[in-house]
Amino acid sequence: MQKNAPIGIFDSGIGGLTVAHAIKAELPNEDLIYFGDTAHLPYGDKSTATIQAYAIKIADFFLQQQCKVIVIACNSASAAANELLKEYVASRATIINVIEPMVDYVAAHHANQQVGVIGTKQTINSNIYANSIASKKVGIRVSSLATPLLVPMIEEGFLHNNIAQDIIQKYLGDESLAHINSLVLGCTHYPLIKEELNIFFEGKVDMLDSSIITAKSLKEFLAQNNLLNGALAEGNNSFFVSDLTESFKHSAKLFFGKPVVLQKHQLWE
Ligand code: DGL
Repeated sequence: MQKNAPIGIFDSGIGGLTVAHAIKAELPNEDLIYFGDTAHLPYGDKSTATIQAYAIKIADFFLQQQCKVIVIACNSASAAANELLKEYVASRATIINVIEPMVDYVAAHHANQQVGVIGTKQTINSNIYANSIASKKVGIRVSSLATPLLVPMIEEGFLHNNIAQDIIQKYLGDESLAHINSLVLGCTHYPLIKEELNIFFEGKVDMLDSSIITAKSLKEFLAQNNLLNGALAEGNNSFFVSDLTESFKHSAKLFFGKPVVLQKHQLWE
């Protein structure tokens, strides 16, 4: 693996740009190649086998670009395809996903507490957060809840109105989350409603943002393995999507925090 090789980052769509943004902030000199599989989103309602097939095709694209690391910047894809991608890519690149760094963080900082996890149906039904946190044996009680309406709500820009408040109230008011100390934002889109969630919980619950935790963990991995890009100037960013519409262009700015030039790249015939 070459130190100056790019980092590949993928998601079902543009939500993973929250992770790309956090990586850019943590590692400004790295070259980033982002791929959003907008032709196939959402992954959150797809079967494991379908997501795995998409993930392999995207990994091939990154391997052609000689990426040193492939970041699965999507909770649903991390739940469905992490193990398979690790096996498939083997020593050709390192796979980093958004779930493992969060599990390590929670185990280290929230022992003996009650932790809530919200995410798509794919992520929550896989039980990956609950099982992985339980395997750390640090006395954490996990309450998991699928909150599928939050993704379309955020994509439609319903953030600061009554409908958003009602949906948040309906989901987060669930009895199972009544006594949590912290909440894992187990979906790429949720950092955009951190403020609304904070207001709902009256600031009493820690919001755990996987984009930031993943970016820090990636930096640590690169430093420990002598893989940090040695360039002095800021790295290049390229953003590819499998389908391009005006609405994706608009959302990209929302998720990355600044304008992004999306290019269509056809991986599928
Ligand atoms: N990126 C997905 C995730 O983090 C959310 C959107 C989707 O369902 O594709 O789970």
